[in-house]
Amino acid sequence: MNTRITRAALAAVLATSATLAHAQAQGPVKVGFMLPYSGTYAALGTAIENGFKLYVDEQGGKLAGREVAYYKVDDESNPAKAPENANRLIKRDQVDILVGTVHSGVAMALTKAAKESDTTLLVTNAGADAITGPMCGMGVFRTSFSNWQPAYAMGPIAAEKGYKTAVTITWKYAAGEEAVAGFREGFEKSGGKVVKDLSLPFPNVEFQPLLTEIAALKPDVVFTFFAGGGAVKFVQDYAAAGLNKTIPLYGSGFLTDGTLQAQGQSAQGLLTTLHYADGLDNPRDKAFRAAYAKAYPGVAPDVYAVQGYDAAQLLAAGLQAVQGDLSKKADMRKAMRAATIDSPRGAFTLSPAGNPVQDIYLRQVDGLENKVVKVAVRKLADPARGCRL
Ligand code: BEZ
Repeated sequence: MNTRITRAALAAVLATSATLAHAQAQGPVKVGFMLPYSGTYAALGTAIENGFKLYVDEQGGKLAGREVAYYKVDDESNPAKAPENANRLIKRDQVDILVGTVHSGVAMALTKAAKESDTTLLVTNAGADAITGPMCGMGVFRTSFSNWQPAYAMGPIAAEKGYKTAVTITWKYAAGEEAVAGFREGFEKSGGKVVKDLSLPFPNVEFQPLLTEIAALKPDVVFTFFAGGGAVKFVQDYAAAGLNKTIPLYGSGFLTDGTLQAQGQSAQGLLTTLHYADGLDNPRDKAFRAAYAKAYPGVAPDVYAVQGYDAAQLLAAGLQAVQGDLSKKADMRKAMRAATIDSPRGAFTLSPAGNPVQDIYLRQVDGLENKVVKVAVRKLADPARGCRL
């Protein structure tokens, strides 16, 4: 019997060493970050990279036995430069995996380039509905959200508060327009009416004329999408105009995520909906936050860091399924699509279109936290309109 155990154990050791040797012989997995490192979304790009690297570091710097080598491009949140920036990573650096980006317009160009070159893409923020809608593909994955998801969840909440009329205000590009459309769908389904949509070009922050218009329109509630540096300025200007005392301001949670230090008093009490929150009572989130605080002292983890962290987890699931062999692309992608991600936000799976099916939280700003109030919608799936997979 002892001999049999010894033989079985030996076989297992040999198989593991063969797999490891094979993984090492393949060299590092080349990961290309296409993210904004300058402009209004710069902090978001850095948080995504931090989150991704934290997970890889927690695995000893290796995924499925393979080292990870990083390549970086600053996309400046500029859609006009996106095809060229994507090709720097795809053609010049010949990365195996693309990770990015934040801005929906840039992400759509990145998705097109990824599909044309058959490079696996992990979308770590940009919510463009099209990415997991008409542009969906077997090699396209998102670990963040669709613009529709958090905004749609806010509609019934505003209606339940008794608000009948809403004005929306946002940047005029896919993220803002789709968030507003999602809110309208949820609000009007629940009996409310959006009476006016206001917008300004991305990334402008000249909000004053639009705030004057809101004051004149006197809606019951304002719904907004802004993020990063623009969100800081919008929340400050809304309060400086005195509107926070008369017309409640609701938004997708990007309005107050990663921004509270700069927004200070002007953000207190704001209600937003998002797939992450402070004060989630789950051990995974507690461990993530402790590890993030240790790795990046003085930087609070936010939704962007979580999305980056989960992208690395998703990649790990795919690589493990093929023992690090990237030539088995179809098998790797199949395993990624079937994975359950043990996320700090709460475990989630991917829809057939490759978008997280996830809880959306109602949060309220309290000090420097977006404290969870309740789950607004459990396991919300994007409708994936136009995806034919
Ligand atoms: C977007 O462009 O999709 C986006 C940017 C920042 C935060 C959320 C979404």
